[in-house]
Amino acid sequence: MLLLTTVMVACAGNTPPTPALSPEAARGKVVYAASCTACHNADPAKAGSLGPDVKGSSRELLEARVLKAEYPAGYTPKRSSTLMTPLPALAGDIEALAAYLK
Ligand code: HEC
Repeated sequence: MLLLTTVMVACAGNTPPTPALSPEAARGKVVYAASCTACHNADPAKAGSLGPDVKGSSRELLEARVLKAEYPAGYTPKRSSTLMTPLPALAGDIEALAAYLK
């Protein structure tokens, strides 16, 4: 059992085994780790130190929220706070983030 655990940890690194990511999603994962995990959980399905879980966020939501600190019309935010600062420099990475978080 110990050996099996060791082998699994060695193969998976710090993340649980996941199906192979598309190149776009893999890039999104890197962007997410670099720009989002200060506040959001490294596992996007869980709440982070400051931000809520963001797994399943649509491209529309990411674009509004990340670039402009807004929400798409009619969207009910998970939190009523306005702590997240917009990151307009990520305009070229929204597609990749959406592919990773979907
Ligand atoms: C400074 C901390 C911080 C950073 C960095 C940050 N967020 Fe957030 N995020 C938050 C907080 C806090 C909220 C909750 C609303 C608020 O207070 O602004 C939030 C809300 C969100 C939401 C809306 C969730 C919902 O459904 O209501 C999305 C999507 C999101 N963040 C994505 C991201 C992505 C993607 C990144 C990286 C590109 C990122 N955030 C970086 C703190 C952060």
